[in-house]
Formats: sequence, C-alpha cells, structure tokens
Amino acid sequence: MVRLKNPSGEQLPRRALRRVLTLVLGAVALSTLSLTVVLWAQNQATDPGVRGIAWCTTCTGSVGGFQTGLTPQEQESESAATTQFQTAAVVTCSSTGSNVTGCGLGPRFNSNSCASCHQQPAVGGSSPPSNPLFQVYQSDGTDSFSNTMPSFETASGPVLVPRLPQSSGGTGLVQQLFTIAGSSYPGCNIQQPNFSQENVVYRQPLPTFGDGYIDFIENKDILNNLNSNLTLKTSLGIVGMAAMDGADGSVDRLGWKAQWRAILPAIGAEEQVEEGITNEQLLTEIDQTSGCDVNAVPEDPTNYNYYGTSMTPWFFLADAERDAIFVRFLATPVPATITYGPSGCPGGNINSCSNGQVQFNNIGCALCHTPYYRTPPGSIPSQGHTLLNLYSDLLLHHMGSCLADNITQGSAQGDMFRTPPLWNVGQRIWFLHDGRTNNIVQAIEAHADNMGAGPCTGVGSYPASEADAVVNAFNNLENITGVDGTAQQDLVNFLRSL
Ligand code: HEC
Ligand code: HEC
Repeated sequence: MVRLKNPSGEQLPRRALRRVLTLVLGAVALSTLSLTVVLWAQNQATDPGVRGIAWCTTCTGSVGGFQTGLTPQEQESESAATTQFQTAAVVTCSSTGSNVTGCGLGPRFNSNSCASCHQQPAVGGSSPPSNPLFQVYQSDGTDSFSNTMPSFETASGPVLVPRLPQSSGGTGLVQQLFTIAGSSYPGCNIQQPNFSQENVVYRQPLPTFGDGYIDFIENKDILNNLNSNLTLKTSLGIVGMAAMDGADGSVDRLGWKAQWRAILPAIGAEEQVEEGITNEQLLTEIDQTSGCDVNAVPEDPTNYNYYGTSMTPWFFLADAERDAIFVRFLATPVPATITYGPSGCPGGNINSCSNGQVQFNNIGCALCHTPYYRTPPGSIPSQGHTLLNLYSDLLLHHMGSCLADNITQGSAQGDMFRTPPLWNVGQRIWFLHDGRTNNIVQAIEAHADNMGAGPCTGVGSYPASEADAVVNAFNNLENITGVDGTAQQDLVNFLRSL
C-alpha cells in the first residue's frame, strides 16, 4: 500500500489521505465536487499545539508541583522526594547491607531515572521534547555500555518502550532496550534484543500528576459510572469494562491497560522494568545471567541499617516508597482558563473553550472521558472529598484494529486500552499509547477504525472501536459554526486548555 507523505516526510493522517484521494478523483470527474472537498478540508480544526511551547508561553504554571493543603509534616518530604524521583541510578551498589540507595541499574534497562521519562512539562510528567535515552544509552556518567540505539527511538521523538506481542512469538512483556555489557562489566555477556522483527509495539510514558487521588477513588463510583447512561452508550456502541484486581476485586486503574491497582505496585514494576532495579515487590533480576548479577538482591531494600545512628524516617524508606510519596503528593493539573483566564484558551476567547467543553459532553467524548470523580474521606485529609476533573472513566474499551497493540495484559485484551485522563493534555507533546502522533486532532481521528488507510497496528480481527460513532459526531462538528470558526475547533481549543 502506498502511503502519502507530507513535505516534511511525515505520513499524512488517514483523514487527509482520504481527502487527497477524493480530491484527485473529484478533479478527474467534476471540478465542482473537488471544490466542495477543499472547503471541507479547510474546516477541519487545527491543533494549536503544546500550551506553554507553541502558544501562551506564560501558561506553563498550572501543572506540576505539590498539592496545597498538605500538613507541615507531610510537606517535610517534598524536597527529598523530588530529589529521589530525579536521582540517576548507577549499576553497582557500593554500600553493603540494607542501607543502599540510588543503585542497581540493569542488567537490562531503558533509562536511569524516573524523571528522565517523566518530565514534561514538569517533574512527574510525560516524555520531554528531546528523547532522554540518548543521554544514557552508552554511559550513565559512571560506567560505559556498548549499546546501539534502536532506530525507532529518535532524538526529538517520545521515549518508546518496546514489547513483542504473544501473537508474534514474543512474551508480551517489556523488552528492555539496553544492557550494562561493555568495558565496565566485561564479565557480562548479554545482547540487546533484536528489534528488527516486525510487530514490535510501543508504549510512551504516562504523566503521574494526580495519581495520588486516582489511587483511592472508590470502586463503587467507577462501577456505577460503568453502569450509567446505558441507553445512550448502547446507541453509540460504547460498552467499557472494569479491570478487576485479582487480589481483592477492586478496580485496577493505572497504566495504559489499567494493569495496576495503585501507585506503589506501579512503581515497583516501573523500577524493575524501566531501570532494572530489583525491589521489595519484584525482588530478583529479570535477566539472571551470571556475570551480570553484580549486586545482592533486592537492590532497593528498606534501609534497616540506617536505624539508630542519624536515623530519620526518610532514610528508613526504600527508594520505591520515596518515589511513591513524590507521586502521591503531586498536585492535580488545573485548566489554564482557571489559572490564566481568557489567555489560557487558544485564540484568547474563553467562550471558545466553554463551547468546546459543551460539545465534548454533547457528542459523547464524556461518556468515556468522564469529566469527574470525587474522592472519599482521605487518610491524607487534604486529598479527601476532592472533585477530580480527570476526564477518564478509568475503564477499558475496545479501540479497534488500528490502535490495537495485540498485547493481552491483566484484564485487557489486545485491542483494549484504559481511557487516559485528559487533565494535562494541553501540555502533552505526543498522544496515544505509542505516541504515534503529536497532533491532537489526529489523536481523536485515530480512535475510529473506519478511516481508511493508516498505520493500523492490529494483527488479526478485532471488534469495531467503541469510539466510532463519537468520532463521526466529532467530524460533523466541522460543519457547525462555533466561537473560533467551527464547533470542532472550539472542542480542540478546550482540550488544549486542559
Ligand atoms: C524508560 C522510561 C521510563 C522510566 C525510566 C520510568 N517510567 Fe514510569 N512509565 C513509563 C511508561 C512507558 C509508562 C506506561 C507503562 C504502561 O502502562 O505499560 C509509565 C507509567 C508510570 C506510572 C503509571 C502512571 C499512570 O497514571 O497510569 C507511574 C506511577 C510511573 N510510571 C512511575 C515511575 C517511577 C516512580 C519511575 C522511577 C522508579 C518510573 N516511572 C520510571 C516510562 C518510564
Ligand atoms: C469508547 C471510549 C472513548 C471515547 C468515546 C473517546 N475516547 Fe478518547 N481515548 C479513549 C482511549 C481508550 C484512549 C487511549 C487509546 C490509545 O492510547 O491507544 C483515548 C485517547 C484520547 C486522547 C489521547 C490522550 C493521551 O493520553 O494520549 C485524546 C486527546 C482523546 N482521547 C480525546 C477524545 C475526544 C475529544 C473524544 C470525543 C471526540 C474522545 N476522546 C472519545 C477512549 C475514548
């Protein structure tokens, strides 16, 4: 299949592709038809781009930092927790016994600090404008590694974490990009995975803002939401499914596939999978090849040996728990229109963003991107009874064969993803689980699987995307007058104000 590219070499979005084809056919047949098509194309909304970078460069302050209302005792952890999240881990643990910290990188790893992948637009966020893996793949500042950079990682692209699906002979698990093999560890003879196989699929980092609140949203609220508006949802083809936790039947809710129940297990997995640091949740190395096992395990234990000397509670904790405190205390993102007024809406007219929000609700985006949940009383009191404008139902949905990554994980099948929260989407650079686009309009179009040609990643047959009807309604908004041109532009402006 021939794929059309735009002048900068990017593949054209499926919708634009379809238009160009129609245009060509139209020009051959009837010039009036092609004129009509051109008019439609002009009406498609444009993405104003990343808030704080492409427009309103002063509107960056409404994301990141810690929540207000923490007690003075809770605030004591803030600076040390930030340092922990930013700490670059080295391979060898030089201290002995259970007083080690900031070490254990490898034998296989993707990067060497949480903040390297989670930093846009502030620490804790998503993948930054320059791919941080280029800074770490051959040296972590202490040791040298003989890695090559896989071609799918680009210097100005998102961090992409690869998996080879079960359907293509893989394990479905993360395939760490790099190894510690090289001059610093000559006894370690392991190879990087061979990424030349087709069907490798990717995931980009999710922002962690507000996860400390998402953690304890009650199951009954998520399940009530699943079972609400059923007539409307059925008429639009929206079903949804809760990812039920195997331990206590609560709703798993973090990760692209809702594979984690809470911050702490997510971080145990992240420490192990992204950095190769064994910890109290995943205690032994993924790759146990001798010669590469340079440390006693787990490499990130509770620091019992600090007890008694200059002991403060902070030193006692394992790194994973310190990272969890960092994430738990992060503030929830605030829409720019609340912090900055009209200048926080692309184009500067706040009515465009309010109309966009109305359209978002009316056409059914809000049936998956649920505008809010409320937290129950919190044992961290400032987190209780809080209205969370997260724009997610925290449920799994069938998203069609174009988005499918063919990975079965937890409750999620190969075409299922958790509705990602949209708070902070105004400052996101790349969208969708594999960061396949940096254009928010394309990210919406990609929800549907009836758009003709395109980068469909599904292998085999999957049911239709649950978002098909809603995306049709989104396309119809091109023909409805709004505040900033069309109602569709207003909706897009609203998203970029988040
Ligand atoms: C190499 C890049 C990379 C590094 C390093 C990394 N992460 Fe992540 N993080 C990701 C990706 C990719 C995801 C999405 C994973 C998925 O859903 O499969 C993610 C997801 C998460 C989530 C879940 C967010 C949510 O709201 O669902 C948390 C929490 C998290 N990471 C914390 C951490 C912490 C803490 C560290 C350091 C110990 C860390 N990460 C290191 C790439 C990274
Ligand atoms: C059937 C449920 C459903 C509906 C309806 C839906 N979405 Fe989504 N949305 C999702 C899921 C699931 C994803 C993640 C898909 C993926 O990553 O492959 C997503 C991703 C997104 C993203 C990218 C977020 C990110 O973190 O990368 C945006 C933006 C978005 N949706 C906006 C919208 C808008 C606007 C509408 C209405 C026109 C809409 N969605 C309708 C379920 C839905």
